[in-house]
Amino acid sequence: MTTPPLPSSPHIAIFPGSFDPLTNGHVDIIERGCVIFDRVIVAVLINADKAPLFTVDERVRMIREVFRDRANVEVDTFDGLLVEYGRRKQAHALIRGLRAVSDFEYEFQMALMNRRLNHDLETVFLMPAEQYTYTSSRLIKEVFRLGGAVGGLVPPVVEEQLRVKQASVAGRRAGARNA
Ligand code: PNS
Repeated sequence: MTTPPLPSSPHIAIFPGSFDPLTNGHVDIIERGCVIFDRVIVAVLINADKAPLFTVDERVRMIREVFRDRANVEVDTFDGLLVEYGRRKQAHALIRGLRAVSDFEYEFQMALMNRRLNHDLETVFLMPAEQYTYTSSRLIKEVFRLGGAVGGLVPPVVEEQLRVKQASVAGRRAGARNA
């Protein structure tokens, strides 16, 4: 008699990052992650040290909107050590995107440090589609702020929120000048 296979626990991966804001490169990586894992948790870092353009809540809302039809994508926030968050979430892997060789050194250091801290959590590197290899949240913000087009590089909801944010920043500046 053959033993029936034990029900296996779902394979969970965490895709951590700042996502300030989410780009189509991130979307591409999350979609690739969904092919490999049962569940992908997009984990937005709560980082008091940085001065982000979007608040954590705004970033979470935009990512949820983009993945609202994907039941296997969860959007969450975390602070403290990533590996501890991974342990709490019973994750099997961390996903990181590798765009170019220039990403490698930092990612390699992080992956090895995370492995040292938690041997059970494997880092998996995924490459985005070629058209996103030069896309980064930092460049998107800069190009948009200077009036360049970012259509096709970020989801429409992000483009819309960049416009809203730019208008509110401009409004605040005008208010300060007239005060
Ligand atoms: O999108 P980013 O800014 O490249 O993401 C960096 C992130 C969030 C993955 C990294 O800063 C991180 O994991 N921070 C949590 C604190 C931590 O665990 N640090 C040790 C990493 S080896």
